[in-house]
Amino acid sequence: MLPSLKIRHLETVYPVIQAGMGVRVGNAMLAASTINLGGYGTIASVGLGDIEKSKTDFVNESNRVLIDEIKKARELADNKKPLGVNIMVALSNYEEIVRASVAAGIDFIISGAGLPLSLPEYVGNAEVALIPVISSGRALEIILRAWQRKYNRQPDAIIVEGPLCGGHLGFSHEQLEHPETCSLDKLLIEVKESMAKYNCSVPVLAAGEISSRDDIEKMLKLGYDGVQIGTFFIGTDEAGMDRKSKEYFVNAKAEDVVIIKSPVGLPVRVLKSPLVRRVMKGEKREKFVCPYRCLRTCNPKKVPFCIAKALLATWSGDIDNAIFMSGCNIDAVKEIIPLKKFFDTLKD
Ligand SMILES: Cc1cc2nc3c(=O)[nH]c(=O)nc-3n(C[C@H](O)[C@H](O)[C@H](O)COP(=O)(O)O)c2cc1C
Repeated sequence: MLPSLKIRHLETVYPVIQAGMGVRVGNAMLAASTINLGGYGTIASVGLGDIEKSKTDFVNESNRVLIDEIKKARELADNKKPLGVNIMVALSNYEEIVRASVAAGIDFIISGAGLPLSLPEYVGNAEVALIPVISSGRALEIILRAWQRKYNRQPDAIIVEGPLCGGHLGFSHEQLEHPETCSLDKLLIEVKESMAKYNCSVPVLAAGEISSRDDIEKMLKLGYDGVQIGTFFIGTDEAGMDRKSKEYFVNAKAEDVVIIKSPVGLPVRVLKSPLVRRVMKGEKREKFVCPYRCLRTCNPKKVPFCIAKALLATWSGDIDNAIFMSGCNIDAVKEIIPLKKFFDTLKD
């Protein structure tokens, strides 16, 4: 029998967090369905706003749509918990999105793509579980030290993203060429050492290449308390993405997975789509006008494409202009299934 997952005041039947996936993949429907089936549901906060409205009022438009999405998820899940939000530190409206999510009564916040050093300040005394995402013991130690010193607070759980994850990666290109040097088992040892230094004993979740009950059991055996699942959940009816894009994932093979430099400033693992082929060839197809400055780390004059537009293209099924962030376990996405089919495999 799989253990439950307890984080701060929250508990689920299964030790599974549905990964926040932008843009609009991890939406109200996917998050609420996950909660209804016994896991942690996460809304990705990035890129939700209407593109035209965002051009003139990015911050308020982003908050408005996120709050709507939270309400929608609460309705779909009959107000059941735990509903969380994924908020990337690299977002230019990071503080505003955190504050809006807390005001909307969110249960947990997952925060990576940078070190969430000021997160406790923006959350204040609200009963919200704080879950940083890290890819090294060193990064965790920096967070533990800063939170201890400034806020006398510890994380409520920790997500360790391994080198085989989908999306942005907290590793150097050299490490990614040798993923065995920073595998999830090695990372867990580092992370536990850092936690011990700060007397921190909270659940630690593994992320990267998890697509089955066997994978979850393997992670539990290693000493993790649960997992976060991204790529595999893209191939579900509930994921927020046009069917054409979901089928692109289903038809892709492991050899189609490559790593490129993202406008976020980190390496990003993606499928070799038409846009990625153009970027790899060094073609700068069009001079794009930055619709709204969504990332602090992006220089629109230098990057070869706009990641916000590319991810919206993925969401809408515009294959030629899309970017398909994917983990190494793409071969496990064999068909588009109802999310329930996966959760049923977790039952005893
Ligand atoms: C399409 C896609 C979008 C993602 N978007 C985000 C995001 O908005 N914020 C974030 O912190 N991580 C994001 N990630 C990373 C996931 O949260 C998760 O950690 C990762 O997908 C786990 O690895 P897996 O894909 O092998 O399961 C994304 C991943 C994918 C595949």
